[in-house]
Amino acid sequence: MLECFEISGGTPLCGSVTLQGSKNAALPVLAACLLHRGKTVLHNVPDIRDTAVMLQIMEQLGCEIEKKGRTLIIDAKEAKQFQVDAALGRQMRSTILLLGALLGRNQKAVLPFPGGCIIGMRPIDIHITAMQKFGAVFEEQDGMLLAEAGRWDAQTILLRFPSVGATENAILAAVYAKGLTCIQNCAREPEIAELCCFLKEKGAKIQGEGTSCIWIRGVDVLQDSTYTLMPDRIVAGTYLIAGAATRGKITLHGIQMHNMEAVAELLRQMGAAIVCEKDTCYLDGRKAARPLECVCTDTYPGFPTDLQSQLMAALCIAEGKSRIKEQIFEERFRIAAWLNRMGAKVVTDGREAVIHGVKRLQGMTVEAQELRGGAALVLAGLIAEGKTQVYGSSFIERGYEDLAGDLRLLGAVVSRKTTER
Ligand code: UD1
Repeated sequence: MLECFEISGGTPLCGSVTLQGSKNAALPVLAACLLHRGKTVLHNVPDIRDTAVMLQIMEQLGCEIEKKGRTLIIDAKEAKQFQVDAALGRQMRSTILLLGALLGRNQKAVLPFPGGCIIGMRPIDIHITAMQKFGAVFEEQDGMLLAEAGRWDAQTILLRFPSVGATENAILAAVYAKGLTCIQNCAREPEIAELCCFLKEKGAKIQGEGTSCIWIRGVDVLQDSTYTLMPDRIVAGTYLIAGAATRGKITLHGIQMHNMEAVAELLRQMGAAIVCEKDTCYLDGRKAARPLECVCTDTYPGFPTDLQSQLMAALCIAEGKSRIKEQIFEERFRIAAWLNRMGAKVVTDGREAVIHGVKRLQGMTVEAQELRGGAALVLAGLIAEGKTQVYGSSFIERGYEDLAGDLRLLGAVVSRKTTER
């Protein structure tokens, strides 16, 4: 039996939905809970596969976790283990975030080399170099990464590239490091500021979050705290793009629009009207037919790579030629082949894609191979005439709590199905 999203496409979206909590904030914040030898209450934790895997790993490391809907009560007092189960750990890339937390807490960590979506090489050299500066010594044994430190001292750390995960790992590692750590060339993604806010509520001494230079004065202990996670800006972007792609009118509640300027700007260039009032965003995509001359993915505040595939799907039916340059992950054009089978005209060459707009896409059976590309195929199904089945739904569920349910609230005809394909 296989599971898929089944979409009857061709109708403009019309409706409203409230956003889920952020995946990319939840994962580092959960890792941060491990640092504190006590209790944390977290609200608005998204109920997705990646957080489920993280929670399983944390339980295996000795945390006691109580789940009440989207609220978690995490007690990490007895989390004395430092070895992450290989099979669990390989299920997602974010396992690597446990490196900074485990080393910071125990000066010891054993983890598998991280797995995750197939979107490029995804090395971990920046994480390793940062941990080495704090004092960690690394060894590799049977596909596992062994790290141990005799000292745990504050450092000045210059990241060779503003990696999101490596910035988060360096922050986690610095919370208990003796002295004043300065992390330079930090990634500035809002989820990093969220991690810092969370840690500050716990008593960590951090300055400069949201900028490319973060200062952390090491402390001896953290305290119990309660925190509500930010909404997911990638889910928000996915729905805004879906609204524009189907030439619909949608409303999103619980959005932090100030984090979404790059995507809003591109959608406006396509012809969409976007109006925001507090945490509500209204998108009118009825005229969103213009192509985009050059979209470049970039680190924040640039256009996020996690929305590139969804935008590509939307541009397939723009009135003219668009161009996308993928600067972050080298293998993020895998869906182009599927889109072309649906009738699109996408030509890729290395990190560049040219999209010649066509009048319509045709529904068919397609297969998701990774999270955001999978969501983009569902969007293609919304645009296409007839029925589209998107297999590989488990990839999509790594990041979207209930994509079918949310899209139904936005007026789409879509369901999750189990088939015997
Ligand atoms: C995070 C996000 C992911 C998003 C990505 C880029 C989470 C849980 N995931 O992933 O959704 O797509 O940021 O915004 O927050 N790199 C190296 N060496 C390293 C680390 C990274 O070369 O040690 C390279 C990667 O191969 C990639 C680029 O740096 O080309 C960006 O990766 P990074 O910012 O680390 O992404 P993640 O933290 O994995």
